[in-house]
Amino acid sequence: MNYRHAYHAGNFADVVKHALMVRILLYLMRKDAPLRFIDTHAGIGRYDLSSEEAQRTGEWRGGIGLLAEASLSPASAELLKPYLDLALAEPMRYPGSPMIAQKLLRAQDRMSLCELHPHDERRLVKAVGRDPRMKVLAMDGYQGLRASVPPPERRGLVLIDPPYEQRDEFETLALELERAWTKWPTGTYAIWYPLKATPEVDAFRACLSQGKIRRVLCLELLIDDVQSEGPLKGTGLIVINPPFVFEAEARQLLPELARIMAQGRAQHRISWLAGE
Ligand SMILES: C[S@@+](CC[C@H](N)C(=O)[O-])C[C@H]1O[C@@H](n2cnc3c(N)ncnc32)[C@H](O)[C@@H]1O
Repeated sequence: MNYRHAYHAGNFADVVKHALMVRILLYLMRKDAPLRFIDTHAGIGRYDLSSEEAQRTGEWRGGIGLLAEASLSPASAELLKPYLDLALAEPMRYPGSPMIAQKLLRAQDRMSLCELHPHDERRLVKAVGRDPRMKVLAMDGYQGLRASVPPPERRGLVLIDPPYEQRDEFETLALELERAWTKWPTGTYAIWYPLKATPEVDAFRACLSQGKIRRVLCLELLIDDVQSEGPLKGTGLIVINPPFVFEAEARQLLPELARIMAQGRAQHRISWLAGE
C-alpha cells in the first residue's frame, strides 16, 4: 500500500469525481428519507495543499486551482456551486470525499467509510471528529462493502475509489461490484478509474457492458491525448443507477471541465454501457 492521495488531492480527476459525486448526493437529498453514503476507499479526508507532497507534484494547480479561477457559464456555475463552496471553503485545504459528504449530508443521513492504511485511517478518524452520523472502518473496502449492503436506509451512494496498485484491481472490482449490486440493485454506485490506454480499462468497460448489472453510465474526460504510461491524462467514472437528471447535468459539466483543465487535446465521452 504505497499510494498516498496527498500527492494527487484536488487534481483534475478529483475535481471531476467530487463535482459529480456532489450532484448525485444532492439529488438523493431531494427526498427527506435518510440515505447512506458508503466510501470504500476513503483516504484521509482533508488535504493540505501546501504540504510537501502536494507541492512536489503541484497537481492541484491543474485541477481545483484552475477551476477556482475559471469563468463558468451560468448553467455550469449553478451546478458546480455546491461543490465549489465546499472545495474552496478553506484556503489551501482540499476536502476528500468523506469531508464533502460530511458537510453536505443531513442529520438523518449516515456515512460508512473504509480505509485500510493504518496511518491514513488514524488521520481520517481525526478529520471526521465526533460525528454520530459517521463510522470509520479500518478494513478492506470490498469487505466493508459486502458487510454494508443493502444498508438499512435502502437508498444512497457507494463510492469505490481504489488506488489501482493491485494488478488484478479491475477484476476484483468487477466481481465485488456485481456481488454488491446483486444484494442491493437499487443503490447508486460511482466507481472511479484511471483512464489509460490499457487493455485492463477496455476489459473493464466490456465486462460491464456484457454483465448483468443494469443502468450503467460511463463518463470519461481526457485533459490531453490518452497514454498508457506516465502522468495521468484521463479520468473515468462509472455510475450505476444514476439519478434521473444526472446524465443531463454531466453533459453540461464535462465539456466545460475539459475546456478549463485542458493540457492539450481535451475530450470527454458519456455513454451507456448497459441500459434498463
Ligand atoms: C484514491 S484514495 C481515496 C480518495 C478518496 N476517496 C477521496 O475521493 O478523497 C485511495 C485510498 O484507498 C486506501 N486503500 C488502499 N487499499 C485499500 C483497501 N483494500 N481497502 C480500503 N482502503 C484502501 C489508500 O490508503 C488510499 O487512502
